[in-house]
Amino acid sequence: MTNVVESVAEMRAIVAAARKSGKTIGFVPTMGALHNGHLELMKEARKACDAVIVSIFVNPTQFGPNEDYDAYPRTWQEDLQACKSVGVDAVFHPQAEEMYPAGWGTWVDVNGVTDKLCGKPRPGHFRGVATVVTKLLNIVQADKAFFGQKDAQQVVVLKKLVRDLNMLTEINMVPIVREADGLAKSSRNVYLNPKERQAALVLYQSLCSAREMVAAGEHNCQAIRTAVLRQLKSEPLASVDYAEIYSFPELKDIEKLNQDVLLAVAVRFGATRLIDNMILIPK
Ligand code: PAJ
Repeated sequence: MTNVVESVAEMRAIVAAARKSGKTIGFVPTMGALHNGHLELMKEARKACDAVIVSIFVNPTQFGPNEDYDAYPRTWQEDLQACKSVGVDAVFHPQAEEMYPAGWGTWVDVNGVTDKLCGKPRPGHFRGVATVVTKLLNIVQADKAFFGQKDAQQVVVLKKLVRDLNMLTEINMVPIVREADGLAKSSRNVYLNPKERQAALVLYQSLCSAREMVAAGEHNCQAIRTAVLRQLKSEPLASVDYAEIYSFPELKDIEKLNQDVLLAVAVRFGATRLIDNMILIPK
């Protein structure tokens, strides 16, 4: 049975009962509009832990003033069915006032890895993510939490958060789930019109070209980045936010591909901003 939980107090009671009966807890935080990418995280949690808790909360503090908080897709009934289908034990679905009651005013700022990639065009985004995830981890007290490589920088930020604040939950990264044609699954894909949907294939294609360059022996990060940018810009409907390469998981500047690197891209199609990435491993 899947419990639906709206209050922090009830969530804590369920967690305490699970702990008392010796169960390990796996946790998957989401903002809903669930797709197979989210379900993959839940399946990993199911395999690794005795009890699985999912949160569905469109977190207002991680959206900028001109971003899509109000328009963000909310599909509660379908989401609940999806959680049931993979055997989730409890869905935490609080209202914004439950997470941010009147008088609330404490932020969590992770420094060092939030000033680049998505941190630049979205000031305050990672502060909102780090704050809500801290709150959720404090509420759920999970042994393991599961996040997607789709948001690789988010994983880096959250691993640093739990390390820096001595939190006990282990952060696990799950590979990107894609559509059959390669587009990374995203709750925001529904915003794309048919032409933009087709044009959006250029993201994954550019990442695959980069992987081929590396397989052919290219070690110069700037050369790879330039080729990716050229391919992205060749798509008329694409407006490139960034295509960048950093060491992974440190997210330091890097010139030669002598260790794993993160190649991350962000591209706008009309009003829709999509991100994708690949971890390139030197030959
Ligand atoms: P959301 O965008 O709903 O994503 C929830 C989780 O699903 C994240 O860890 C994300 O990386 C993962 N995910 C999304 N698409 C995926 C895909 N195609 N393949 C694999 N995993 C995928 O990320 C957030 O919510 C929020 O920032 C949150 C962590 C919940 C804090 O509010």
